[in-house]
Amino acid sequence: MSTAPLPAASGGASEPHHVAIIMDGNGRWAKARGLPRVAGHRRGADAVRRVVRGAGELGIPVLTLFAFSTENWARPPDEVSDLMGLLRHYLRSELDELRKNGARLRVIGNREGLAPDIVRDIAEAEKLTQGNNRIDVNICVNYGSRAEIVRAARALAQRVAAGELTADSIDENTFERELLTAGVPDPDLLIRTSGEQRISNFLLWQCAYSELVFVDTLWPDFGKEHLEQAVAEFRRRERRYGGVGS
Ligand code: IPE
Ligand code: IPE
Ligand code: MG
Repeated sequence: MSTAPLPAASGGASEPHHVAIIMDGNGRWAKARGLPRVAGHRRGADAVRRVVRGAGELGIPVLTLFAFSTENWARPPDEVSDLMGLLRHYLRSELDELRKNGARLRVIGNREGLAPDIVRDIAEAEKLTQGNNRIDVNICVNYGSRAEIVRAARALAQRVAAGELTADSIDENTFERELLTAGVPDPDLLIRTSGEQRISNFLLWQCAYSELVFVDTLWPDFGKEHLEQAVAEFRRRERRYGGVGS
């Protein structure tokens, strides 16, 4: 995440550089229609396509989507396998669409827990899109923020034990560089769909000063217009970063 100091407090009206979304409500979307949960996840994948395109059109430079948490392994095996199948499908079928949108893909999460063919597809998709520069699209898969923070602490402890670093020299910048999001600026705006108002172990460190917008729309119904509304809400906010504002 950004190693730059926090920006000065602003009176609003600035544009979000990085928008992160907790894509929630696929199951409820399906249930409301008497369909199996996987139908909601399929429609959720369509929403991902719409929102990536919409974010590009709105000039949002960085978009991060929470697709599968470390805690989501607790779901019934059939649902986990449907979600992994959709991820496989997405990584193979969306490359053209990502290219058309000028999107550079990065998958953030613990890859060790994923099937080897998915890990290969991720590496391939990242490689094929790395030259795109209109929008950075980060998809969080097998991601959990507490695990990420523990991993960073462990890596720093190992470097101290190896004599590469002193404990006293560890500061916020050193710590950020060990996170899975190293190099990605902090989210300015965090959106969660489906009416739930919680963070669910997403970007705990990185969202320290993000503006939170909770919307009732279920993820499969979410589109560019909802993104625009959330950005409009962001513009009305006053970011103070602990200061006194304007
Ligand atoms: C979001 O929708 C997708 C994932 C978390 C993988 P859910 O599957 O959580 O949908 P609800 O919350 O049960 O409606
Ligand atoms: C958060 O949604 C994870 C993703 C969107 C991938 P969940 O549906 O898993 O969160 P909880 O269980 O309602 O907190
Ligand atoms: Mg949910």
